[in-house]
Amino acid sequence: MTTEDQKKAAALAAFDYVKSGMKVGLGTGTTANHFIRELAARAKGGLDVECVASSRATFKLASDLGLKMTTLEKHPHLDVTVDGTDEFDASFQLIKGGGGALLVEKIVASSSRYMVVIADQSKKVATLGRFPLPVEVVPFGINATAWKIERALRICNLKGKLVLRQKQGKPFVTDSGNAIIDVAIGAIPDARRLDHLLGSIPGVVDHGLFIDICGIVLMGTDDGVKTFRKA
Ligand code: A5P
Repeated sequence: MTTEDQKKAAALAAFDYVKSGMKVGLGTGTTANHFIRELAARAKGGLDVECVASSRATFKLASDLGLKMTTLEKHPHLDVTVDGTDEFDASFQLIKGGGGALLVEKIVASSSRYMVVIADQSKKVATLGRFPLPVEVVPFGINATAWKIERALRICNLKGKLVLRQKQGKPFVTDSGNAIIDVAIGAIPDARRLDHLLGSIPGVVDHGLFIDICGIVLMGTDDGVKTFRKA
C-alpha cells in the first residue's frame, strides 16, 4: 500500500463515525481532503450533513464539491471533526500545523464531541517531536516572543531551533493573519507541560500540540486500518 492508499483507507474508515443529521468539522491537509471528497460523494447520495471548515483551503474544496457549509457561530457544538495529523503518540497527543491551519483546526476540533484523526502509519511516533512544532505568533514583537519560546523550552529541559516559516521567499501568513515559528525540538517527553508554558506566552496565539482533544485515531497500514480509541 502506498502512503496515499493508507490515508485514503483511514479516511473511508472515518465514515463509521459520521451519520446523517450531524454537524461535521472538516480538517485540513492531504488526508483530510480524501475524507472531504468521499463525504461530498456520499452527500450527493443522501448523507445529510452540515460542515465547518478548518481553513480557507478546506472551505473552498468542500464548497466547490457542493457540501453544505455552516459556521461555529451558528453551531458552536459539532458532532465530530475528522482531521489528519503530523504526528500522534500512544496517549492521543498530536502535533499538527504542518499546513499552517493549527489555530482554526484546534478551535473546530475542540468544539466537537469527537475528534477522529485519520493518518497513514508514518504519523505514529513513540514520543512527539520528530516533526518541528509549529507555533503561531502575532507578528508584533516576534523576536521578543521568540526568546520567550526559547525560555519555555529551557524550563522543560529542551532545546529547539526556531525558524520563521516562509512561503515563496516571504514570511508565511496564516488564515488569521499571523506568522508561524517552526520549532525543531526532537523528543518532547512532557508535551503537556510544554503546552501550558507555550500557551501562557503573550504573542503566542496557539501551537500545534493537541492534548486531550483527540479520542480516536484511524491509522492506515499495509494490513488494513488500525483503530486506536481512548478508554
Ligand atoms: C494542517 O495545518 C495540518 O495540521 C494537517 O492536518 C497535517 O499537517 C496533516 O496533513 P497531511 O494529511 O497532508 O499529512
